[in-house]
Amino acid sequence: MIRVWRSVPKWAGWRAGVTGMSVGVVPTMGALHRGHASLVERCRRENDIAVVTIFVNPSQFNDPQDLERYPRTMEADLKLLESLGVDEVLVPGVSEMYPNGYRLRVEPHPEMLVLEGMHRPGFLQGVLTVVLKLLNLVRADRAYFGEKDYQQMRAVAELVREFFIPTEIVACPTVREPSGLAMSSRNQLLPAASRGNAPALYRILTGSETPAAARAALEAHGFQVDYVEDRWDRRLAAVFLDGIRLVDNVPVRK
Ligand code: PAF
Repeated sequence: MIRVWRSVPKWAGWRAGVTGMSVGVVPTMGALHRGHASLVERCRRENDIAVVTIFVNPSQFNDPQDLERYPRTMEADLKLLESLGVDEVLVPGVSEMYPNGYRLRVEPHPEMLVLEGMHRPGFLQGVLTVVLKLLNLVRADRAYFGEKDYQQMRAVAELVREFFIPTEIVACPTVREPSGLAMSSRNQLLPAASRGNAPALYRILTGSETPAAARAALEAHGFQVDYVEDRWDRRLAAVFLDGIRLVDNVPVRK
């Protein structure tokens, strides 16, 4: 039976009593889709206790409008998690996660402030800070992150190494629609008319010889491009389509 924890102290009290069982966690901001489900399924398979956190983290949004319209689908999320056999769901409130406001935070080295870190000021700080809090609360053996947010996944892996957090970061492949479109909570914000255009992002990233060629092709398809760059053997991009921001990345062809 799934259990939902809304109180951090109650959660922490329960967690302190768990011994001799492996714990896995999937940190999320809700609005769950098949991409999340694949992380949860793996977490379920590999651990005695499967935990999911749902917290729309204000500190990682640089645009208040983006935070406001971020989809919130708690009832459907809990139904999905129950069907996937999740044991515990942690749903803390903002004042519980940030009892003194946002006074202390993780500051990435300026070298890390590229891509999302450059185009969404404060994003990486917010993600690393909340993930540090969540990992300390859950004290999981393994935490599951999707490769769709490739830079986030790398930064979190660095965070646990740097701060000696005893949680293994498990990177999981991006789940795509049959069209190639990467699953994302933001896809549901796309107006129906632009849904058909969105898969071109993946097609263009995989099909272009260079980042410059990808940028030109994306612009020709009506995307407004934040960046397209090759790093870490991946081609990574963020674009706007009808005001909705989409990110994706693919391996760079050798
Ligand atoms: O990828 C997300 O959903 C969020 O950035 C995360 C990792 C849950 C932190 O808020």
